[in-house]
Amino acid sequence: MTPGSPPLLGLYIHIPWCVAKCPYCDFHSLARQGPLPEGPYVRALLDDLEHSREGLLGREISTIFFGGGTPSLFSGSAIAEILEGVSGRAALAADCEITLEANPGTIDSRRFRAFREAGVTRLSLGVQSLHDPSLRRLGRIHDAREAHDAMEAAAGAGFRSFNIDLMYGLPDQTAAQALADVRAVLAVAPPHLSLYELTIEAHTAFAHEPPPLPSEDERMAIEDAVTRAAGDAGYDRYEVSAYARPGYRCAHNLNYWRFGDYLGLGAGAHSKLTDAQGVTRMVRNPDPAAYMADRGRIASRRRLARHELVFEFLLNALRLTEGFSQDMLRDRTGYDFMELESLWAPAFARGLLEHEGDRIYTTPLGRRFLDALLAEFLATTEIIPAEAS
Ligand SMILES: C[S@@+](CC[C@H](N)C(=O)[O-])C[C@H]1O[C@@H](n2cnc3c(N)ncnc32)[C@H](O)[C@@H]1O
Ligand code: SF4
Repeated sequence: MTPGSPPLLGLYIHIPWCVAKCPYCDFHSLARQGPLPEGPYVRALLDDLEHSREGLLGREISTIFFGGGTPSLFSGSAIAEILEGVSGRAALAADCEITLEANPGTIDSRRFRAFREAGVTRLSLGVQSLHDPSLRRLGRIHDAREAHDAMEAAAGAGFRSFNIDLMYGLPDQTAAQALADVRAVLAVAPPHLSLYELTIEAHTAFAHEPPPLPSEDERMAIEDAVTRAAGDAGYDRYEVSAYARPGYRCAHNLNYWRFGDYLGLGAGAHSKLTDAQGVTRMVRNPDPAAYMADRGRIASRRRLARHELVFEFLLNALRLTEGFSQDMLRDRTGYDFMELESLWAPAFARGLLEHEGDRIYTTPLGRRFLDALLAEFLATTEIIPAEAS
């Protein structure tokens, strides 16, 4: 039993440099030392794509995402060169969504226009907060004024869409402050909004020296306040942290959550690709110098076992408000819903999962305890037989 036809394909391009490393961040990002090696990095990305074409099985690329790190540190001309190189080497969907992540401390309206002229259709701005003491606690390189200016510039730059990233549950934050942050962002009416609860990730500066976070009760009050404000303003919470006005969901991230395929180019980028034999995960060499010198660009490559496929599918699909259909489960993992009944039964019985027609999704309770639910699935998927009958 193998998964069905290959799913949609996204292209992720990782730009690993930042101006400075934020103390909460565990993304693969490095504080830049001097000028960035734009030219050699662009050449390495395109060379990497050239050598990866075979694995794409002739599929067209439906979305492109420049993530980081801080892709807005790159010039408009470097982004244009990458996009021209990509379209010369692979077929792009006619309506290809092209997102670029930007830090408010690294941009101005001229740079935004250059990104748009290069072909970027969607900007994702890491605002995080509009409260200066919070921004300082987060080690951000910009203040609230610059974040405001960047939001205005993003709104006026003519992109088809733009997203604002905001974090909540910040050190010493009150519900009133979190709400003021969301309201200030809503005033700019972004088509898309990402609201992330601050998490303390292992191996970050915050993990070594934890900041004073609001209590569990305060964090829940903050979460209620910010999600209600976004809902009241007409945003649909279609994923745990993602909110969109009608017609503006992020197609690239939706493809991740629907367990689609993606080719990741750039230092430390992750890929997931499906072929007739199954699903393969790859990680590119995280060291930019080694990546540019092509000293073994692919650092690891692994075929997923069947039980891992089921768990990874759930890890993604259960984040979506709409959940997943039984067809999607079969297509992506090769398993029929009923074959895995022992996996679902306890979660249905405890009111964590619900279904309507052939669609399965988490209840509000299931979403609140999603991590615990997934941990249970992980324990159970490990005992799924390699071949369900
Ligand atoms: C790669 S960063 C985006 C762009 C850019 N590097 C920036 O920070 O402005 C992706 C987003 O993840 C969120 N994020 C990163 N670390 C987080 C953490 N520990 N807890 C919650 N959200 C986090 C932030 O909102 C951040 O904007
Ligand atoms: S700017 Fe963004 S990617 Fe860079 S360290 Fe800060 S949060 Fe991480």
